[in-house]
Amino acid sequence: MKRFRLVTAVAAGSTLLVTIALAPTVDAAFPAPLWVPRHSRGIAAAANLDASRAAAEILKKGGNAVDGAVAAALALGVVDPESSGLGGGGFAVVWNAKDKQARVLDFRETAPAKASRDMFLVDNKADGAKSRWGGLAVAVPGEPAGLAELEAKYGKLGLAAAAQPAIRLAKLGFAAGTHFACAADDHAPGCSPSTNPPPALAPDDPLRALLLPGGTAVAERALVRRPELARTLETLAHRGPAGFYQGAVGQAIVSAVQARGGLLTLDDLRGYKPIWREPRTGSYRGHQLWGAPAPAGGLTAIEALQILDARPPLGALGHGSSAADHVIIEAFKHAFADRARSLGDPAFVPVPEARLGAAEYARELASRISDDKIGKPESYGDKSLVPADPPHDHGTSHLCVADGDGNVVALTTTVNLILGARMVGGSSGVVLNDQMDDFSAQPGVPNAFGLIGAFANAIAAGKRPLSSMTPMIVTKDGEPILCVGAAGGPTIITATVQTIINTIDFGLDVEAAVASPRVHAQWMPYVAIVERETPRDVIQGLERRGHKVVVAKDHLATVQAIGISPVRLTAASDPRYGGAPAAP
Ligand code: DON
Repeated sequence: MKRFRLVTAVAAGSTLLVTIALAPTVDAAFPAPLWVPRHSRGIAAAANLDASRAAAEILKKGGNAVDGAVAAALALGVVDPESSGLGGGGFAVVWNAKDKQARVLDFRETAPAKASRDMFLVDNKADGAKSRWGGLAVAVPGEPAGLAELEAKYGKLGLAAAAQPAIRLAKLGFAAGTHFACAADDHAPGCSPSTNPPPALAPDDPLRALLLPGGTAVAERALVRRPELARTLETLAHRGPAGFYQGAVGQAIVSAVQARGGLLTLDDLRGYKPIWREPRTGSYRGHQLWGAPAPAGGLTAIEALQILDARPPLGALGHGSSAADHVIIEAFKHAFADRARSLGDPAFVPVPEARLGAAEYARELASRISDDKIGKPESYGDKSLVPADPPHDHGTSHLCVADGDGNVVALTTTVNLILGARMVGGSSGVVLNDQMDDFSAQPGVPNAFGLIGAFANAIAAGKRPLSSMTPMIVTKDGEPILCVGAAGGPTIITATVQTIINTIDFGLDVEAAVASPRVHAQWMPYVAIVERETPRDVIQGLERRGHKVVVAKDHLATVQAIGISPVRLTAASDPRYGGAPAAP
């Protein structure tokens, strides 16, 4: 079922041929890029064609980019419950064409009021099973309140209208995609079995109805209906957030979580509030960067880009060369060292955003990068920051929607690991997150993604765990040119940065910018990760400079992007995953 395809890209006058290995995909969802005239109704790129089509339907009805993004996010929660949904949370960057400003909505989950710093320690050791699966793993969902807030503030058609495609998909059914089918049975042909398998489902586990209807695992392209979730979506559509956080839906979720040893209460649900935040801004080669600040990943992406901005343009080094990849990796190591030492929820810990995001600081770090060799691990980032304990990070979706009036939304949403806590909130039909695993459960111990963090990200009641999610919008002279973001834990940050570099430094069109092989480094573990398609001489060039190179078994992140020119909107879904863009 694996397919290969040639992507042709024109970069700095030369033609690059890049062979991309594709994961198995549904034929109908093969991700061809799509473009529409700039002043049409708009366009959407999501990790599932049903979700892109939900946005396109709402754009066609006269909705703006926000209506489209909300429709796509709600639809994703229906068709890809392993990645995101009402039981999770996320971040959105909204570009408002009227005042030419970006705003950020943080609808990240929060730790329940009864949560405490050492809640996952057993015999003084973090118990990963407890923070990943079952009731204790569940943080207060933010997605219903977040999407309602986006609609209330910037939507044109309202939540009830934006929810219609999702309600229809849940009621009438949809064809299961590859990733949903693999979540139901990761030993099915074409799937990668989990290296850290979750506990087997109990005979009466409500997740069975979703994954194993009639006793057999959902197969790719099988018709799936989710009637309970359809009712929950209808209640949310008609009553707003209260329809989720209170009443029968809230009660069903709380009862299910508590029955599995969780701490969530109705008060936690009632108290959830999304937060509007000032965007984290930066500049890159004459472009403006608009990202989501802590606890999201925008600062780390912007820090890496600004370090590169303080160095000579990458274009001359050649796209995909070891010289360019070396410098990019070194910038990632500085930015991730700072992330590890100092980032957390700004309501709980002082986050040195301004300092780490400053151009002078980027210049200082850039001056420490050698073209020829790597540094010692302790030489990266701001050494005066004290490292301590780790954050965590599989199950995420990014989407981009742009409308013909110039509004753009970059939105990333997650239930964290695949199928979140592997729990359904009783009769609500909602798959619940395991975002508690994104906190640092124990100082100094790397998480599931090998990320090292600080006490800044320790668990506390009401706190939001540090996230790698990095929805971003890039503008030039006040006009958006790119909407981008990704799924894939810490590789979200590095994939988003490389899509921006591919567009700006290497002049790739948006399809090639998304599809080109990528590298990843996150400081610790102290390695440089490359995709399988990376040529041997590039790997050798990195090794010569001192990098310990690891070839990734799987793809690095899944990017969705929209390129915006004065005449066109061009959307691209990452061929690594199998989503596809859509337009009215
Ligand atoms: O917020 C975070 O950083 C993680 N919960 C994201 C996890 C993720 O992207 C997994 N991927 N596909």
